[in-house]
Amino acid sequence: MERHIGTTAEGLLALGSGESAALWKAAAALTLPERAHLALRFRSAPWTKVLGALESGGALVDFGCGPGLLAHLLSRAGFSGTYLGLDPDPRKIDRARRWLPETAARRFQVGEVDAAPPGAFSQAALIDVLYLVPPGERAGFVSRAARALSPGGRFVALTSGGGPRWKRRLDAAQERLAVGLGITRGAAMATCDGGEVADLLIRAGLLGVGIVDVGRGTLHGFELATARRPSA
Ligand SMILES: C[S@@+](CC[C@H](N)C(=O)[O-])C[C@H]1O[C@@H](n2cnc3c(N)ncnc32)[C@H](O)[C@@H]1O
Repeated sequence: MERHIGTTAEGLLALGSGESAALWKAAAALTLPERAHLALRFRSAPWTKVLGALESGGALVDFGCGPGLLAHLLSRAGFSGTYLGLDPDPRKIDRARRWLPETAARRFQVGEVDAAPPGAFSQAALIDVLYLVPPGERAGFVSRAARALSPGGRFVALTSGGGPRWKRRLDAAQERLAVGLGITRGAAMATCDGGEVADLLIRAGLLGVGIVDVGRGTLHGFELATARRPSA
């Protein structure tokens, strides 16, 4: 039986079971390989933890949104705010638009972090993107992303380069393969663990930085970082 995802008492979003089938159905407009890629991505990353870290309303910007999986899950969860998905790869934006209709409350746009209007968002998501940003450019990248937040705004970043050594090796090998095959386009490929993300968030002037190991039960060393922009 399908159980829909809903909001928790704290107002943060939660995922239930039955979402794999719902995703497969929702992505019917995509080609079979594209649907399979989404299905695999859904199963291989800790989306319940990502959703659980996001608030159920407000204005959310999703940096490196890819083909729109987070946008879909937000809508399944009853997210009541506005969503802007940005990605520098036009192929990803095209794919997102093919299965997720754009509305006044949900838009996708080709663009990097600077495309987000400063101070316009109460939440920013950065899900599995930093490994594609060259290490020397990450501090500036995260600072520019954090600028999109309004005072008190929430930053949520998922990274996959942490955990035990065997997971770190596996993540590095998989990322090399994805970039090498042209599945993922990025300027670099270098893993980034939660400790590094925490440091980047602090350097960006964010407060209340927290890192949680969310890789349990997956093959990857996923770590989830949350932080807030200081209130005015
Ligand atoms: C592994 S995919 C993750 C997609 C999506 N966030 C998800 O979790 O399903 C990484 C994404 O980062 C995007 N990306 C690469 N370089 C980027 C950059 N400099 N700024 C923003 N996004 C970037 C890629 O185009 C790709 O869609």
